[in-house]
Amino acid sequence: MSSQNIFILGIESSCDDTAASIIHNGSILSNVVATQKIHKEYGGVVPELASRAHQQNIVPVVAQALKKANITKEQLHAIAFTRGPGLMGSLLVGTSFAKSLAYGLNIPLIDVNHMQGHILAHFIDEEGFEKPPFPFLAMTISGGHTQIVKVDGYFNMTVIGETIDDAVGEAFDKSGKILGLGYPAGPEIDKRAKLGNPKAFKFTKPKVDGLNFSFSGFKTAVLYFIQREVKVNPNFIKENLNDICASIQYTIIGILIDKLKLASKQTGIKHIAIGGGVSANSGIRQALKDGEQKFGWSTYIPKFEFTTDNAAMIAIVGYLKYLDGDFAEQDIVASARLKI
Ligand code: KG4
Ligand code: ZN
Repeated sequence: MSSQNIFILGIESSCDDTAASIIHNGSILSNVVATQKIHKEYGGVVPELASRAHQQNIVPVVAQALKKANITKEQLHAIAFTRGPGLMGSLLVGTSFAKSLAYGLNIPLIDVNHMQGHILAHFIDEEGFEKPPFPFLAMTISGGHTQIVKVDGYFNMTVIGETIDDAVGEAFDKSGKILGLGYPAGPEIDKRAKLGNPKAFKFTKPKVDGLNFSFSGFKTAVLYFIQREVKVNPNFIKENLNDICASIQYTIIGILIDKLKLASKQTGIKHIAIGGGVSANSGIRQALKDGEQKFGWSTYIPKFEFTTDNAAMIAIVGYLKYLDGDFAEQDIVASARLKI
């Protein structure tokens, strides 16, 4: 079969987004995401509600992806799905659906690691977006993960640093919760940070050796700081919200950039890519760009729609694995703690 005319369906259901995407060779034809609103009321993702919502969403989301791509399911060459890491109940929905559909259509099934997806999203053909050359460093920053990965090839990746407790997205979201912001708070902190003074308040950076991260102490530092200030002035949050957001964001970005600098120094690699929901943050995007001047980096920032959880990144990994003939068997199972 020629590698010139391949259609692959990608399915993502690892957390609270039900997503499906069709890729034609390296180009995305459709990228549909149903974000589950239900979790907002609870200030975080409720696993049981997430899997129920995936059950309801998956059929219409896949149908819409096929429709938008203007193809029928019979034209598909393979089905790629997120095997892990993620919430088990959520992963099970996508995994079972992908297995049944591939079986029914008698086409190959391809398992995808969600974290590899965030990294390989950089290899989607997209005008105006350059693909990083190997080797490069990828920092994946999301609500569930914080990793620095040395990428020597599409499927030759080594995690060289990661969080020992909370993910960076949690640092945004939990700080936001303390400030009374809605969930997820990352986007609102980002918006308010643009209007505030990043040096108004100082938060100490956690001290973690090497390339690992820690964010649980940061969240506690924010909590104690707010409790202290509110005791003196009950309106402290309201009167200083933009400055607090700017200071929180400034500190978090400082932590991320410090580790990237160290990783670049240790490996001698100056091609730096980011991925994951937090890479939508305007401050980290700017800090990375500044790194080009300051540290001689070449930086790679994905298109906005490929940063937060999506199925296009699963479809591109599916396409790359399809070209390698790397298929899964029907007895494959979801894996909540799947490693790169
Ligand atoms: O990759 P993602 O959609 O889901 C996970 O795999 O976790 O990432 C979601 C995370 C949330 O913590 C959210 O607050 C954060 O990404 N996020 C942001 C921004 N947009 C999303 N954090 C900071 N600034 C943003 N603009
Ligand atoms: Zn993710």
